[in-house]
Amino acid sequence: MTPPRTFRIAAIPADGVGREVVAAGRAVLDALAGDSGGAFAFDWEEFPWGCEYYARTGTMMADDGLERLKDFDAIYFGAVGWPTVPDHISLWGLRLRICQSFDQWANVRPVHFLPGVVSPLRKADTTELDWVVVRENSEGEYAGLGGRNLSGRGPGGEVAVQSSLFTEVGCERVIRFAFDLARTRDRRKVSSVTKSNAQQYGMVLWDEVFRRVAADHPDVETESVLVDAMSAKFVLRPEELSVVVASNLNADILSDLGSALAGSLGLAASANLNPERRFPSMFEPVHGSAPDIAGRGLANPIGAVGSGALMLEHLGLPDQAARLHRAIEATTAAGILTGDLGGTASTDDVTKALIDALARSTPS
Ligand SMILES: NC(=O)c1ccc[n+]([C@@H]2O[C@H](COP(=O)([O-])OP(=O)(O)OC[C@H]3O[C@@H](n4cnc5c(N)ncnc54)[C@H](O)[C@@H]3O)[C@@H](O)[C@H]2O)c1
Repeated sequence: MTPPRTFRIAAIPADGVGREVVAAGRAVLDALAGDSGGAFAFDWEEFPWGCEYYARTGTMMADDGLERLKDFDAIYFGAVGWPTVPDHISLWGLRLRICQSFDQWANVRPVHFLPGVVSPLRKADTTELDWVVVRENSEGEYAGLGGRNLSGRGPGGEVAVQSSLFTEVGCERVIRFAFDLARTRDRRKVSSVTKSNAQQYGMVLWDEVFRRVAADHPDVETESVLVDAMSAKFVLRPEELSVVVASNLNADILSDLGSALAGSLGLAASANLNPERRFPSMFEPVHGSAPDIAGRGLANPIGAVGSGALMLEHLGLPDQAARLHRAIEATTAAGILTGDLGGTASTDDVTKALIDALARSTPS
């Protein structure tokens, strides 16, 4: 018998519900591997980084953390942030440090409508809705450029400058990524989102690069939409969407809107990809650490499990990813839903239901 392909995965549950959903996701992924007839296995190593680690050590991750992560096949992340640590310190000290150091420049965030989940959109009852947000994940508004100064002027005198960075290379690679993705979908369309009427430098450069890349893809339908109009379109005409590509901040906001329309932030999965595979990519639910429900077994694990499916695709196991999606659909269709979706199931109930659904399904 061929020995299983063993994938080395670094798990970073971090804070709050991140710990609950990573534990759930690992259990489901291990069940899938255990049922793969020996085709593949996971070798997990868990890292204790996050806000508690910060309280003990004064840093969000070990000094040699990036060195320790760089040879893993992938990173499976929970969520970072806790009220005891300012959010900009926790985010920059862990998640953004990993994304930027490992050049995970494409953040893929599917908006997937599930059976048995009531969407706030009436249209979702009668229309097939399915789109994916591609977020530029390395520069834009989250480039971390700027500073604060002049506090010496006394109370009320301080100034802060926060600059966005748009490089032609950065725009072009993520826009090309969006076109390549569109070519794999039933509807070959890319919607580019900016606010270039008001932001006349970086976002005008983005628009120009978009037009240039679009000209190389005549088989793909395109549109350029301002972000305010696109937020309205998410609600009013979502059936026109397939791939939506936008800068770091705009796509961050739009993807939360998309997951809320699909039913809950707890459903949304994401992949932070280094498409050249020079570094490991990172898979995480879109949601944060949810301090309001953390530690009570209430968290919806589907966003984390769906992120596991994106990880399987990245690892070259699309059939296994599809199997996981079918288990998610069977679970929500059966009405096994956590509180954010109006149900009464716990994180463990949903996790068990997902594992049971996998056991009932045939490996494809
Ligand atoms: N990728 C990340 O690590 C990430 C993303 C967003 C926010 N954060 C951090 O998380 C902390 C809390 O931020 P927030 O409250 O703005 O956003 P949040 O995503 O943690 O929570 C927003 C709302 O969604 C609910 N929710 C989130 N995940 C859920 C799940 N799995 N199941 C059910 N309900 C869920 C929460 O209960 C809350 O009502 C902050 O410290 C923030 O900086 C981290």
